Amino acid sequence: MRILFTGGSGKAGKHVCRYLLDQGHRVLNVDRTPCGVAGALERRADITDAGQMHDVMQNWADFDELEPGAGVPAFDAVVHFAAIPRIMVTSDTECFHTNTMGTYNVIDAALKAGIRKVIFASSETTYGICFANGERKPAYIPVDEAHPTEPEDSYAMSKVCNEATARAFQRRSGADIYGLRINNVIEPHEYATLFPGFIHDPAQRRRNIFAYIDARDLGQMVERCLRTDGLGYEVFNVSNNTNSVAAPVPELIERFYQGVPQTREMGAFETFYSNEKAKRLLGFAPQHDWRDELEG
Ligand SMILES: NC(=O)c1ccc[n+]([C@@H]2O[C@H](COP(=O)([O-])OP(=O)(O)OC[C@H]3O[C@@H](n4cnc5c(N)ncnc54)[C@H](O)[C@@H]3O)[C@@H](O)[C@H]2O)c1
Repeated sequence: MRILFTGGSGKAGKHVCRYLLDQGHRVLNVDRTPCGVAGALERRADITDAGQMHDVMQNWADFDELEPGAGVPAFDAVVHFAAIPRIMVTSDTECFHTNTMGTYNVIDAALKAGIRKVIFASSETTYGICFANGERKPAYIPVDEAHPTEPEDSYAMSKVCNEATARAFQRRSGADIYGLRINNVIEPHEYATLFPGFIHDPAQRRRNIFAYIDARDLGQMVERCLRTDGLGYEVFNVSNNTNSVAAPVPELIERFYQGVPQTREMGAFETFYSNEKAKRLLGFAPQHDWRDELEG
């Protein structure tokens, strides 16, 4: 597929771009800085500028596309990751503005260019737990996509707003638009640097609902979304199968989730951030459990 990828120079994006290139896709990274991933094509553009987004969606990806003389080829899909990735990076207004207007511009330009598949990065923070003022517990466990999205911060607000934007665009266009409520992204080198701390102090993972997503498994998730057509508008939790801490589920419930309703039996180390919907509808099958990675 010929894919336009925004934010491919970021922490998550560069791994996902690499994964998609390895699957044989052609990837044009649209970002403010190059990603430097071997094989990725690069275009410098700002997602908050609507004109630039309309331009890149209907433009050449590289010089070889001039050769057939058949005009500009169409993109098969857009993967939209570019964003301010959390609070406390920029001002709150800049974060909200970049993320909401950027997403509006990217989806609007994609659909007006005739592209029928858009995958965009939403976030675990939509559930309101990650950046809460003080401790907030889930309404129930495991947290699935039906859990209320009631955040109180500019970043998560922008992601909830983006989901409403995407849903509206899907209703008008009938295209496939899938939102990924991505949990905390872990790069391969971070198993050694971060997980020893997580194992000994599970409280560090409370705000992430104890979950994580391997950056390469996130690549697989995007690939599964590219391969699965006809779902219309959907949001998906994206996480690995187990929690990011060594303690078993009953111990974590005893320590952190007393009084929180449990909707079903859970496996001993099963993630509290349910990825069942992605498995069921997309065939998502995460490969990189932290235990194997640490042993490796
Ligand atoms: N990293 C995580 O744990 C995590 C978790 C949940 C959701 N997400 C979401 O996943 C996506 C990627 O996150 P990340 O961690 O790779 O973030 P990142 O900050 O590392 O990468 C974001 C990229 O977007 C680009 N960008 C920002 N503003 C732009 C603009 N105006 N125009 C063009 N490009 C712009 C940046 O240059 C950067 O390369 C984001 O949408 C983020 O909100 C990330």
